[in-house]
Amino acid sequence: GMKQRLLVVANRLPVSAVRRGEDSWSLEISAGGLVSALLGVKDVDAKWIGWAGVNVSDEVGQRALVKALAEKRCIPVFLDEEIVHQYYNGYCNNILWPLFHYLGLPQEDRLATTRNFESQFNAYKRANQMFADVVNQHYQEGDVVWCHDYHLMFLPKCLKDHNSKMKVGWFLHTPFPSSEIYRTLPSRSELLRSVLAADLVGFHTYDYARHFVSACTRILGLEGTPEGVEDQGRLTRVAAFPIGIDSDRFKRALDLPAVKKHVQELTQRFAGRKVMLGVDRLDMIKGIPQKILAFEKFLEENANWRDKVVLLQIAVPTRTDVPEYQKLTSQVHEIVGRINGRFGTLTAVPIHHLDRSLDFHALCALYAVTDVALVTSLRDGMNLVSYEFVACQGLKKGVLILSEFAGAAQSLGAGALLVNPWNITEVANSIAHALNMPSEEREKRHRHNYAHVTTHTAQDWAETFVSELNDTIVEAQLRT
Ligand code: UDP
Ligand code: G6P
Repeated sequence: GMKQRLLVVANRLPVSAVRRGEDSWSLEISAGGLVSALLGVKDVDAKWIGWAGVNVSDEVGQRALVKALAEKRCIPVFLDEEIVHQYYNGYCNNILWPLFHYLGLPQEDRLATTRNFESQFNAYKRANQMFADVVNQHYQEGDVVWCHDYHLMFLPKCLKDHNSKMKVGWFLHTPFPSSEIYRTLPSRSELLRSVLAADLVGFHTYDYARHFVSACTRILGLEGTPEGVEDQGRLTRVAAFPIGIDSDRFKRALDLPAVKKHVQELTQRFAGRKVMLGVDRLDMIKGIPQKILAFEKFLEENANWRDKVVLLQIAVPTRTDVPEYQKLTSQVHEIVGRINGRFGTLTAVPIHHLDRSLDFHALCALYAVTDVALVTSLRDGMNLVSYEFVACQGLKKGVLILSEFAGAAQSLGAGALLVNPWNITEVANSIAHALNMPSEEREKRHRHNYAHVTTHTAQDWAETFVSELNDTIVEAQLRT
């Protein structure tokens, strides 16, 4: 175990707050891979610092929320509406997120984004300093401060400027793009330099780490070594730490009577049909329209399967104040409606599309009854949904269709059917392959994935990162 104190800093706290009264709050588990992975880390003395997802402008409300969150070992950073608009909706989710996933900016917004860039970047820096202020208030000598994700690229520098002895790590949960993409960012140098202030910088895959190092050499002219990036004798260690899940938590859930009952109900409801499943935040990077169009093509070409298969798409609402996400929602609804109109009957529709989140147990039951999971991300840092599906398939041994552009393709590539999500003919063929796959092949593929998912856990990930961070600091002290 890790008995060292750890301060985990991420934009999103593991719980989001909903106001129930002047001084009362209820807390709900936040969605997304970052939170899931960190919740899978046990046996560590950790405190969380982050945003609770709400604007709280009054002192009574703030005091009550601080208290409610303290029970979950969480410490809030209060961001006002204007900062959230410019930093979170603007710089993080309209600029960095699409850029890091190779999506570019939407044509009609390109100029507006360019014009707003500077004020959004300033808000980003201000927001990062607000996170740093809260860290500084709670920091005790010897603590490890672990910063997470693209929201907080400025944080390592804020922290080190205040206290150069602080042990600071930074981990990116998204891809880091090729330097040819990254270098279009107006704030490219300033962001890289602030990340380099950390002692250790981590990515999901070796490719992302390599992209980061080459951005530093090409844009900043620094020296890249096998260990990381060097600047005037100071080394920032850069390495890959592929994340995982707490697979036991899923296996345990499947043994609960309530979950078993749910599995039984679902099995009855879809009796006689194969179940295909998608679980994604409703995000451009997930390739949801592409997935649904591929499914349509499959139905078109395989008339015999039309009343024998159903696609369940759970689309968890996310970042709903960002216009691109609103457009995506209506686009997906339109496609789903068209296909259900085209292939539905009086008693059944081919696609069940849900704009909602599921609780953990309902999600486990769905994973367990699924025959084929479809992950069609156009880019994805890792994609934990694919891991979770595998963890829940101990009995069924279903097929995973997985985008080659998800980080998970590097670990589950041998067991999954890898696809290019842009090629809907290929995806449609893979759906046919998956549904018709002989059981020996299915079981063999499942075994590969299951072995990986159960042995590369979130716990290992966190322990490896933190011990590498400690080692890096010891080595740096020996060098000076
Ligand atoms: N998830 C969730 N609520 C839901 C459905 C899924 O929180 O209603 C979780 C899911 O279990 C997974 C995470 O959201 O752990 C998604 O992680 P992933 O890495 O696949 O993608 P991300 O959302 O981080 O881009
Ligand atoms: C991705 C990001 C996380 C983020 C999550 C949910 O997984 O890497 O940092 O928390 O999406 O998005 P949200 O904007 O709701 O925090």
